Amino acid sequence: MDWGGRWYDFLLYLPERWLMSKWRKALWRFVGRPTGRLLEIGVGTGKNFPFYPPNTEIWAVDINPSMLARARKKLSNATTPVQLVLADVEALPFADKSFDTVIATFVFCNVPNPIQGFREIRRVLKPEGTAYFLEHMIPMTPRKARFFDRLDPWVYKAIGDHINRRTDQNVELAGMSIHRVIPLTSDGVVRLIIAKPNKGGTS
Ligand SMILES: C[S@@+](CC[C@H](N)C(=O)[O-])C[C@H]1O[C@@H](n2cnc3c(N)ncnc32)[C@H](O)[C@@H]1O
Repeated sequence: MDWGGRWYDFLLYLPERWLMSKWRKALWRFVGRPTGRLLEIGVGTGKNFPFYPPNTEIWAVDINPSMLARARKKLSNATTPVQLVLADVEALPFADKSFDTVIATFVFCNVPNPIQGFREIRRVLKPEGTAYFLEHMIPMTPRKARFFDRLDPWVYKAIGDHINRRTDQNVELAGMSIHRVIPLTSDGVVRLIIAKPNKGGTS
């Protein structure tokens, strides 16, 4: 569903203040101070701008022009210059092995073919590069997972969001190895996944 950038910021104002900003801080603590080139996937309205590390060449893509337009207005929140690009994660307009770091926050619940999206991330990552995904997904507890599976078609119909994505599995199916999974909620619905491209591998 295209809520537009303005609506996105309005609807997420309180969740962002209460919870999401804490999760973002956790993600950026792990990212630390990388050098080289960093790519953000699904930048939305630029909620990660204040966390971008200095001394890094930053590119940020989104498939939705209205989100990008809102992000463009907030570029002054970024501590370092950012190149904003209209692009689909399933077909990234970047050369192979051209980024040191890739991050995405709350994106893969929307992407139609998440495995293809992760394949593209693996393609553009340098062999020694690292990807960080902060995502909501299927709970870790089997009973709750079954409930999310049943609810998913209704939620998707209502807001265009999948609540039962097997994001860890999808990352691995796309040819990346998971180095760490850090659950940020007790049921694992929100997790931080740190992954690296498989050596010389294709999925
Ligand atoms: C829930 S918002 C999250 C925005 C931002 N990452 C954040 O943390 O606030 C999901 C974002 O992913 C973008 N998105 C969805 N599918 C995409 C795709 N295939 N390629 C690139 N961006 C996509 C949407 O347009 C939207 O801006």
